[in-house]
Amino acid sequence: MTIQKEKAAYICQTCGTSHSKMQGRCSGCGEWNSLVEELVQSRSRTFRFAKTNSSAPRLLEEIAGEDEVRILTPDLEFNRVLGGGIVAGSIVLLAGEPGIGKSTLMLQIGLQLTGKKILYISGEESDRQIRLRASRLSYSNPGFYFSGETDLDSIVAAAVELKPDLLILDSIQTVTTSQLESGPGTIAQVRECSVRLMRFAKETSVPIIVIGHITKDGSIAGPKVLEHTVDTVLNFEGEHHNTYRIIRTSKNRFGSTLELGIYEMTGGGLMEVANPSEIFLTSGDQMLSGSAVSATMEGLRPILIETQALVSPMAYGTPQRSATGFDIRRLNMLLAVLEKRCGMGIGGKDVFVNLAGGIRIEDPALDLGLAVAVASSLYDIPVGGKAVFAAEIGLSGELRSVSRIDQRVAEAAKLGFATIWIADSQIKSIGELPNGIAVRSAAKLQDVIRNLFRGD
Ligand code: TYD
Ligand code: MG
Repeated sequence: MTIQKEKAAYICQTCGTSHSKMQGRCSGCGEWNSLVEELVQSRSRTFRFAKTNSSAPRLLEEIAGEDEVRILTPDLEFNRVLGGGIVAGSIVLLAGEPGIGKSTLMLQIGLQLTGKKILYISGEESDRQIRLRASRLSYSNPGFYFSGETDLDSIVAAAVELKPDLLILDSIQTVTTSQLESGPGTIAQVRECSVRLMRFAKETSVPIIVIGHITKDGSIAGPKVLEHTVDTVLNFEGEHHNTYRIIRTSKNRFGSTLELGIYEMTGGGLMEVANPSEIFLTSGDQMLSGSAVSATMEGLRPILIETQALVSPMAYGTPQRSATGFDIRRLNMLLAVLEKRCGMGIGGKDVFVNLAGGIRIEDPALDLGLAVAVASSLYDIPVGGKAVFAAEIGLSGELRSVSRIDQRVAEAAKLGFATIWIADSQIKSIGELPNGIAVRSAAKLQDVIRNLFRGD
């Protein structure tokens, strides 16, 4: 069988018509800007009618189901988001905005894995820059190799020769294969390179961590295809002006996607945050008005977080509403409920809300704490009583149950809170109470507000 050389062609992503050169409009379906350069393989390579052993159907029950081999890193947060360490032969995408700390994280994980051979490829930074950065981190690994190569075939050749325990590639947008004419970072290059890396990982069992940049609109630069190809997608998030960073798993073939890793960026690299609640509660000063603590869940982790609100007389002709770390539409809905169901006059006031620590949380259980913080600011009365809140609020002001209430209660008790406010409907789902905490419940938001601020 003769293997023909792979040739590049421009394929329409809508109708599949092949073109020999780049053009703005597909001659097949008339779609604009839909052509992408692709390598076309000859039929004799892609379609095999002869049976090979690896692809013959086998009974599921006869396939040996051993556990995956995993590399446990000394970084517990990183192990956690991967579902228990790096799986041999897997390919992990670490995606995030530029400057968020992706290179720092991968460099420090590579340096922490002493006793393992690491191949760190960076088309983004020079060897001297990497050296300088490494010297700011307090780890060192004698088995750490660096290369500034950006040609994919050379990278794979180097990896085959070196046989590393882990290959780190910074970033997928800088590598290219010379078989395609498109520039680095284009859909064609990212797709072809990621498919080849995948094949390399599966054939050699060397795990690969690929860094990918995210564009302004939040998508992983290049194509969705990258997310489809890799086994695990980790999203590295955080506000640039804030020191906290979060890794959320959005896809994982080897574990749960509910896991969350939390770090703090310091002068000496990223530090793991084992007890997030302690950070997102500022000083614990409950004597200030406009502040309330919510017991939230992020993935599988309970996090107590302080919600702050400021209600002030309207400064301009239209009232301003601003939310940091919280969905603004949800805030508007809660303000309407406070106005209509609780009779609070906030329609003509400016309202600002903020979650401490610059974290973004989407747990509906935040509703009650947020509404209480707004009321506390409006009346200028502190919440007091070491109270925590966990309930969703419906349009008529009714309080609704939230998930995993026992975990939330336990976290609040652990951090020394005395009371947790929850929905009436949740009472029956509460198990045994930990020491030191009492549960208060209400059917409606107005009951909670009345109890806390109006003293009746
Ligand atoms: P970097 O890892 O280069 O981000 P990315 O690879 O995602 O683009 O990190 C960028 C920021 O991190 C940079 O502004 C400097 C800061 N930083 C620290 O604060 N402490 C450190 O120890 C290091 C290495 C970087
Ligand atoms: Mg970088």
